[in-house]
Amino acid sequence: MAAQNQSSAPYTVPGLTTENGHEVARTLQTRLHALNDLQLTLKHAHWNVVGPNFIAVHEMLDPQIELVRGFVDELAERMATMGVAPSGLPGDLVAVRTWDDYSVGRATSVEHLAALDVVYNGVVADHREAIGKVGELDPVTEDILIGQVRELELFQWFMRAHLENSGGALEHGGETTEQGAASAAR
Ligand SMILES: [Fe+2]
Repeated sequence: MAAQNQSSAPYTVPGLTTENGHEVARTLQTRLHALNDLQLTLKHAHWNVVGPNFIAVHEMLDPQIELVRGFVDELAERMATMGVAPSGLPGDLVAVRTWDDYSVGRATSVEHLAALDVVYNGVVADHREAIGKVGELDPVTEDILIGQVRELELFQWFMRAHLENSGGALEHGGETTEQGAASAAR
């Protein structure tokens, strides 16, 4: 659910009822928290990756972090546009999120990439679910989320491409936890 201290204005965008506009914005709050968490997690991996492919992965992560930070801003400003105050507060994020902190510390590039692949599975699936929810009420917000998913999925392929063999198989395929994926890819 959205932040308890969230406040709504008595308006939304033209053409939507205030109720529907605010409902769309409240869905965006969950995605805002997810992407805020993601950009911090990616920075954590950027700092903690070690091993022979250090520089490739270290440097590959930064443009993605900048992109995701832009997505956070995009969602927060869309919420404000729709009449609901966005929350970017860390305590609020931790209180409402449905996942745990990223569980990998200092580790090799394949371990981080496999664990981050699992993270992306969750973020992208939840973004797609949000697309389904808001799409019935507001195609403009739906379009924003679709654009974000397109970029998130592209980067997930970048990560997977480091882990695939020539047959396209992933050692960690089927793993659903970060630790499980990291161990399988090791
Ligand atoms: Fe850095």
